[in-house]
Amino acid sequence: MEFLDEKIEEYAFNHTSYEGNLLKRLEEETYEKLEIPQMTTGRIEARFLKLLARLVGAKRILEIGTFAGYSALSMAEALPEDGELITCEIDPEAITFAKKYFDLSAHGKKITLLEGEALNSLKSISGPFDMAFIDADKENYSNYYEAILPMIRYGGLIAVDNVLWSGRVLDPKDKSDKAIHQFNERVIQDKRVESVLLTVRDGLNCIIKNEPA
Ligand SMILES: C[S@@+](CC[C@H](N)C(=O)[O-])C[C@H]1O[C@@H](n2cnc3c(N)ncnc32)[C@H](O)[C@@H]1O
Repeated sequence: MEFLDEKIEEYAFNHTSYEGNLLKRLEEETYEKLEIPQMTTGRIEARFLKLLARLVGAKRILEIGTFAGYSALSMAEALPEDGELITCEIDPEAITFAKKYFDLSAHGKKITLLEGEALNSLKSISGPFDMAFIDADKENYSNYYEAILPMIRYGGLIAVDNVLWSGRVLDPKDKSDKAIHQFNERVIQDKRVESVLLTVRDGLNCIIKNEPA
């Protein structure tokens, strides 16, 4: 489902900062070589994630779902030289692809890629993190959220992708539809956080962790 008029999307794209030649190449090669290349966040959302990372003054970021490495490299740009981004990915082909681009980027040294099931990887990680980006298997969104929230510092941010699921949240039918809708319901009722569900791309839920009452 397209949420915005194509011309408006194009206008927004043309008035969003250029992502740089390396990310452009990464995106082009993703479309040439990887399956489901449209999983890549792309210019507008990834520049927005970088902007959010800058706004929270992120030094440590956690990502669930690396894929080709586009969003990881975009957020890593916002980190200081001694900053760290940990990203989790299960698909070996995506891992090889992303690692190649991490090696080519000046920001790649800030990134650690944890291979395998993200829920397992999360057991080996400790906080605090300033920001997290959840963008993997939808059925585990609530599990990722509950595992990650305690590791986020107060005032830190969790951004969660695809929360509109091409509009299917309005009439959830399959497991993923229901999981995303239930996740959004969980967040809106959660007193530990304040959130804004933005209609950026396929929906981006931006969740700030409150100070304890
Ligand atoms: C939408 S893509 C991520 C896109 C990436 N964040 C970007 O913007 O470029 C989702 C990724 O999550 C990975 N994934 C799915 N289930 C996973 C799991 N249980 N553990 C780790 N990674 C998983 C998939 O292999 C896929 O590469």
